[in-house]
Amino acid sequence: MKPIIAPSILSADFGYLAKDIEMVNRSEAEWVHIDIMDGVFVPNISFGFPVLKYVAKLSKKPLDVHLMIVNPEKFIPEVKALGAHTMNVHYEACPHLHRVIQQIREAGMQPAVTINPATPVALLQDIIRDVYMVLIMSVNPGFGGQKFIEHSVEKVRELRALIERTGSKALIEVDGGVNMETGARLVEAGADALVAGNAVFGAQDPVEMIPKYVHEWEKGYKIVIGRKTESKENPFVYFLRGCYYKLIKKMSSCEQIEQFTGFGLYDSSFVQTMRD
Ligand code: DX5
Ligand code: ZN
Repeated sequence: MKPIIAPSILSADFGYLAKDIEMVNRSEAEWVHIDIMDGVFVPNISFGFPVLKYVAKLSKKPLDVHLMIVNPEKFIPEVKALGAHTMNVHYEACPHLHRVIQQIREAGMQPAVTINPATPVALLQDIIRDVYMVLIMSVNPGFGGQKFIEHSVEKVRELRALIERTGSKALIEVDGGVNMETGARLVEAGADALVAGNAVFGAQDPVEMIPKYVHEWEKGYKIVIGRKTESKENPFVYFLRGCYYKLIKKMSSCEQIEQFTGFGLYDSSFVQTMRD
């Protein structure tokens, strides 16, 4: 499956919102990500339903709505009225998460649960079969353009394992600090969908940039598949490949990485992706 890219309009130019939404419509992005903040659950306020009504009217892409608010269940009818495809609520904001997930599904939307950087994946054990998607925050929610939290890659790997163990069909989405390099590693770890704010709207030509991201991230996906095949054929090569990957992740300079491309265990185009 090709990784899904969901541009976050939090990074759009609010003075020309219609123009930016039209740009997303013309692009190969699959979803539009919408961040709603209340100044209570997170220390910022973004936009409310009167503005989003127009965003929804203009957007031709499915809306992936991310509620960073307390009591998100109160707004199920409003989110539904936008015609949202997915409604993401925070684990930390829902003491009765199972009920909220059912309510979202009953309202005709896809329910998703979001976890903050300090919330462990293991806490999703009893809800993973009930959700359409899990959204892993790779920054502390509240602002666009923050630095990616490294630990998020391991969380994606852990979540992928939980999904496989439980037979859940949940998708994995990641939000915050996603770019060419972090995106490739997240997809390699098992992410299906990536939110991109600054990476898309900060680009000179977002329409041209979006397929480039997807193309580079997809290489991470191919490595996952390649690894699985090879693990069956030759466990030693599989083991070496794992060690090699861990080494690359620890390396900071391009020169260091260059020295290891000769081993031939990894696709050099992926190493290139890591460097970009
Ligand atoms: C952060 C929001 C994100 C944000 C991502 O609270 O949930 O969706 O827009 O922005 P970037 O991709 O710039 O980190
Ligand atoms: Zn978001």
